[in-house]
Amino acid sequence: MLIKRRRAWELPESAATPEDIYMNRRQWLKAAGLAGLGLAGNSALASGAMAAIGGYPFERNDAYRLDRAITDEEEATTYTNFYEFGSSKNIWKKTRDMVTDPWAVTIDGMVETPMTLDAEQLVHAMGGFEERLYRHRCVEAWAMAVPWSGVPLANLMKVAKPLSGAKYLRMETFLDPDVAPGQKQVWYPWPYVEGLTLKEAQNELAFLATGIYGKALPNQNGAPIRLVVPWKYGFKSIKSITRFTFTDERPVSFWEELAGNEYGFWANVNPGIPHPRWPQKSERLLGTDERVPTMMFNGYRDQVEYLYSAMQVSSPRELYY
Ligand code: MTE
Repeated sequence: MLIKRRRAWELPESAATPEDIYMNRRQWLKAAGLAGLGLAGNSALASGAMAAIGGYPFERNDAYRLDRAITDEEEATTYTNFYEFGSSKNIWKKTRDMVTDPWAVTIDGMVETPMTLDAEQLVHAMGGFEERLYRHRCVEAWAMAVPWSGVPLANLMKVAKPLSGAKYLRMETFLDPDVAPGQKQVWYPWPYVEGLTLKEAQNELAFLATGIYGKALPNQNGAPIRLVVPWKYGFKSIKSITRFTFTDERPVSFWEELAGNEYGFWANVNPGIPHPRWPQKSERLLGTDERVPTMMFNGYRDQVEYLYSAMQVSSPRELYY
């Protein structure tokens, strides 16, 4: 297969904005916009901030195989959950006005040097672009199987350089009710937050996706960068990330804060744990009427079980809550 890969370039020291001159997101985006027009003096921003993440399609890593057909592209990109734009599955058109390039991402908390940089700079600094076929299982009992493009989340450690006491990675989505009208619904604890242990974040399956179906992510699927953790229920796979915070405190996620008795921190897929709203023993394949049995860890037991064996759980429930 012809691999059209964008030339990888190193993240120059100057490309990251240290926390002491940290600007808020709007200020950063304004500066990046000016840089792209050649108006600002910051050459580091000008060099990378205005170009979209490109280079698709990436070479597929055949280590990740499916037991089912790839979901129809139109189904996977028009039936989406993105509560920032509304609670229906049909919100994809409403995401069109979200500007994803440039896209400021802050890395902070327990790291050697806090920084704010563009999403494109971040993923190039992380490196390891490839395509992977993964199953995805939503707690609402629908499932899909899609080709994601992106980089291993473990490579974030190379850029962020977490301090030895950091135990968790907290991730946050943008907050901008003017762009995302769902965020005007004040009963939700915006912004959307998710978290992993650092060990989970370094697991081989944890992936930072920039694309789907061999193209850049459409906005509704979480452009320009979103998490993919296929052994967990879909709500863990946070979209349109703007902040990675390294911490020694377990983050409280968006859904956990809303209903911790329904949406656990661990949220490992488990057909044996009943959910008050949706059946968990089987799942509907998106775009079909077919139901298939749900698998423990969504079929990724071999890759992830070691993460939880030391937890000495008394019941599988603890791997969910
Ligand atoms: N991330 C954000 N920021 N907002 C959301 O509403 N929904 C989650 C997850 N990530 C969500 C999110 C849920 S419930 C699921 S099932 C997946 O995204 C859906 O991903 P998809 O729409 O790309 O299939």
